[in-house]
Amino acid sequence: PSRPRIVASILPADFARLGEECRALQDAGIDRIQWDVMDGAFVPNLTVGPDVIASVRRVVDIGFEAHLMVERPEPLLRRWVEAGCEIVIVHAETCTHLHRTLTQLVELGVRAGVAVNPATPLSAVAHVLDLVDLVLVMTVNPGFGGQAYLSTMESKIAEARALIDRAGRPIELEVDGGIGPDSIAGAARAGATTFCIGSALYRRPNAMSEELARLRQLAT
Ligand code: DX5
Repeated sequence: PSRPRIVASILPADFARLGEECRALQDAGIDRIQWDVMDGAFVPNLTVGPDVIASVRRVVDIGFEAHLMVERPEPLLRRWVEAGCEIVIVHAETCTHLHRTLTQLVELGVRAGVAVNPATPLSAVAHVLDLVDLVLVMTVNPGFGGQAYLSTMESKIAEARALIDRAGRPIELEVDGGIGPDSIAGAARAGATTFCIGSALYRRPNAMSEELARLRQLAT
């Protein structure tokens, strides 16, 4: 199996030094940065928009994914692509016409991802696997970093693994929420291949590359 991908959630970063923080993540050897986009409606928190991402895009080369935790993702789809995101992830729960929204992302020439919250069944994404390059299984209820990993999601990760293997396409299975030294191995055993990590990466801010190497090792 290919080496596990570690994606850094931007949530724990010092937003007063966002460019430097992203450069530090890039230097530590992170595979991608996840922009946790929150609108204060879908989740009880409010973070950044496309203009902030476009600014940071100018100072790092590392790949960006936009995780849209927003009630209405359709109006701004193009903005995330123009801001420099190579992957745009929408929540199945926020798209009445999920097949159409994902098709719009494909037509924008960006890789499309679909995320499901803990209570949402995978049947919500079963009929759009031909459109996506990534399925994001939330292992916390979205909105904040630093929450406890929901180990009850491991059966759902395994179900997603089987669904993706049957689809016969190179779809990343990403998990997000409470991923750290005590949970990453279980998530990997269940079938996850990409791990979005926030607070666990910042446990020892000036030893991020060691922390990253340890986490990558645990996921192998
Ligand atoms: C939750 C965020 C996740 C995650 C990151 O809404 O979308 O990216 O919680 O933070 P940790 O790794 O601290 O849970």
